[in-house]
Amino acid sequence: MRLAAAIASLVLLAACDTGTEERDAVASTRTVQRGYVPVPPGTVARGASAQAAALAPPGPERTPALLARGEDRFKAFCTPCHGVSGRGDGPVVSRGFVPPPSYHEERLRALTPEQIVQVITQGRGRMFSYADRVLPEERWEIAHYVKELQARGTGASSGQEGAKP
Ligand code: HEC
Repeated sequence: MRLAAAIASLVLLAACDTGTEERDAVASTRTVQRGYVPVPPGTVARGASAQAAALAPPGPERTPALLARGEDRFKAFCTPCHGVSGRGDGPVVSRGFVPPPSYHEERLRALTPEQIVQVITQGRGRMFSYADRVLPEERWEIAHYVKELQARGTGASSGQEGAKP
């Protein structure tokens, strides 16, 4: 019976002129729209406490494996602007994006891994948040890798490029 009804409506649809088809498309879009439902007070988003726990300092222990993952994630997410050695000279900057400060500036050398995790989570100034792209554990991996870059001291633009340990 349902099949017969479906076929009948298909036949009817096929008979419609273009104007009617357009109205159909609009009507079907409307059915997908939902009214705004405010989040009930006291509600905790699913996974929020696990996320908070993963972001709590001091974070995971710094190991060679963690640094390797951090390097990989850093290259994927941060080098477009900050550059491979963190000097703020990534390809996006060469196309006109506002250059970030070098990680090798004294003020940024003083950042703790926790503060770097915070910048990734919340953004800072003209840098937007990466919370929707970089997982909490990856933020620690990246933060430790940034500290590693700073420790290597490869970023001084004043000719200390060869001064790697
Ligand atoms: C789209 C370009 C862009 C990307 C990608 C980007 N940043 Fe930034 N970042 C900036 C800019 C611009 C600033 C300077 C922000 C300001 O002070 O207005 C900045 C600043 C920073 C700072 C310094 C914050 C301070 O205290 O001044 C840190 C640390 C940082 N970024 C880390 C990261 C990490 C880690 C990633 C990768 C997850 C990343 N950024 C990806 C553009 C970017």
